Amino acid sequence: MQFTNEELKTKIQELKDKLSVTVVAHFYQRDEVFEIGDITGDSLELATRTRDDDAEFVLFCGVGFMGQSVKVLSPNKRVVMPKIACCAMASMIDGMQYDNTVKAMNKAGISNENILPITYINSDAEVKAKVGEMGGLVCTSSNAKKIITTALKEGKKILFVPDRCLGQNIANEMGLKSCVVGDGSDMNEADIICYDGFCSVHQLFSVEDIEFFRKKYPDILIAVHPECDPAICDKADFVGSTSQLIKYIKELDSEQKVAVGTEFNMVNRLRPKNTYVLSSTKPECPTMNETTLKDVYETLKAIDEGQPINEIQVDENTQKWAKIALERMMAL
Ligand code: 13P
Ligand code: SF4
Repeated sequence: MQFTNEELKTKIQELKDKLSVTVVAHFYQRDEVFEIGDITGDSLELATRTRDDDAEFVLFCGVGFMGQSVKVLSPNKRVVMPKIACCAMASMIDGMQYDNTVKAMNKAGISNENILPITYINSDAEVKAKVGEMGGLVCTSSNAKKIITTALKEGKKILFVPDRCLGQNIANEMGLKSCVVGDGSDMNEADIICYDGFCSVHQLFSVEDIEFFRKKYPDILIAVHPECDPAICDKADFVGSTSQLIKYIKELDSEQKVAVGTEFNMVNRLRPKNTYVLSSTKPECPTMNETTLKDVYETLKAIDEGQPINEIQVDENTQKWAKIALERMMAL
């Protein structure tokens, strides 16, 4: 049977009232899904606020690594996802590729004792666990600079996975040297060695897009997410995580024009006017968009029927080390 979105919202609310479930939604979710979220935010906020919530079930509307992070931090919670959608960036590195990267550093003369690994939260629990076992930690786009600043105090080489753009952008901001594994440069000369992963959505923004908007509206501001290429971030007026972008834009004068370089759903609901998407191509995250109200309803219905679907499971050893890596970040 087909339901309209309004009917689905009513049915979802009825099940939410009946069950011990917290619905969590990332900023990049479709509007109608975002609107039913009990907890909404960027990836760091979602991980911390969900940990402090006491419902039996967490219904996570986002991509796989986000739901996994909740499970890792709170193993006793039952985490279900309407769609176990995969983040394109997170899928660029698995445990074996991580090990091979460490081996490449060893081959260049950098021993494990001299490597401090940091993984962006956009990674699988397996990778977080490997980082945790090597004494490293997790970061998000909102705290990456702080985490790297603290990590550098250990005097080791930073291995940054999987997002080369975030790693390079922070290095540029802090006046540090970075390189990308496989780019032919000497790893010994870099402070931050970045794995060659990236977000396909944030690669859509180009220098030409910035030039176009600056020419059309000379007073416009350009605000972008640090998953954009360093060439874009260098030319932007503001670089920040999803929450930081929202705060920055909300505080602008309503007449101030701004072009924003991040996912479409979020940009579209930022402000009624004077806000532009910094691209001629609609920058939608295909996997974030996979989750629909119908999926949410069916997932709640499955809980109600006593047969939860798409439940996140993480094995004990992975959970233990990934949690250590996440908690090291939270302690900072
Ligand atoms: P935030 O940590 O800023 O929410 O970003 C997550 C993400 O996947 C951006 O592409
Ligand atoms: Fe992953 Fe990019 Fe989608 Fe963010 S926008 S969830 S990094 S694919």
